[in-house]
Amino acid sequence: MIYSEEVLQKTLNLGKKYLHEGAVADYIPELAKVDANKIAISVIENDELHSVGDSKVKFSIQSVVKVILYSIAMDNYSVDELKKYVGVKPSAKAFNSVIELELSDKSIPVNPFINAGAIVIVAILYNIYKGETFDIILKKARAFLGDDVDYSREIAESEKESSFTNRTLIYLMLSRGIIPNDIQVEEVLDTYFKACSILVNTENLAHMSYVLSNNGKNLKGEEIITERESRILRSLMATCGTYDYSGDFAIRVGLPAKSGVGGGIVTASNKNTGLAVYSPRLDSHGNSYCGVRMLEFLSKELNLYIY
Ligand code: DON
Repeated sequence: MIYSEEVLQKTLNLGKKYLHEGAVADYIPELAKVDANKIAISVIENDELHSVGDSKVKFSIQSVVKVILYSIAMDNYSVDELKKYVGVKPSAKAFNSVIELELSDKSIPVNPFINAGAIVIVAILYNIYKGETFDIILKKARAFLGDDVDYSREIAESEKESSFTNRTLIYLMLSRGIIPNDIQVEEVLDTYFKACSILVNTENLAHMSYVLSNNGKNLKGEEIITERESRILRSLMATCGTYDYSGDFAIRVGLPAKSGVGGGIVTASNKNTGLAVYSPRLDSHGNSYCGVRMLEFLSKELNLYIY
């Protein structure tokens, strides 16, 4: 047993000491309404789910969904084909940086886990699935996370109303021909906002972590993604999953991971386990403040580093 009840509780208590640090994302007004003192860890080990803290509390998945979006893109195209529209390079600026997009080669987003990259991926999916796109995304999200997940209409609407930076990114990409200019811009953005607004808890994210760590198979042994896709996603999580903090995260925690401004972090490992954390106050890079500290502590305590 790697994750004893004692070590999980010790980690949660350590995390609680940092609850006052960081700030809840408020550039999306609906996100500012959450209870900032929630904190949780969920793990899957030996086919069983264990949690400590507020593991039933739902929050929006936000950028963690970008892993799922890229997996659907890989069902349709090779990474080399996708690289014409979105790269696989680490980012050096904030997750919604306009200047990084402007300065990147041909204004191709550097990777699929920053906002510009995920918006391109949604545009690519929209070209294939048209009005069905969000249904396809939700179906795949349920396969990763659990059948009961749905999205928050309030958060999706709030994202739309405060979408100035994301609009800047999509119009810049339209002007550079990265996204074809006959695309339905509003439909693409609405689909992206809905995807970011999918509600999850750490239990859902632990299931996603298990799929990523277990070469694409869920607890029932069903193939959610291929082994190759899981390897590519873990690689991208390692290099790009916590944005411009990814290098620090790799040193501190030593596991591939993907964060979201909702406060969730999903990890991946090379063991048949799942591990996810939540706490909504964020550091300056947009990663859960307590979440990173809890993962760092757990990693040291249990020697989880895989690099
Ligand atoms: O588009 C946005 O800004 C959000 N829906 C997602 C950003 C996000 O989660 C970045 N994460 N740390």
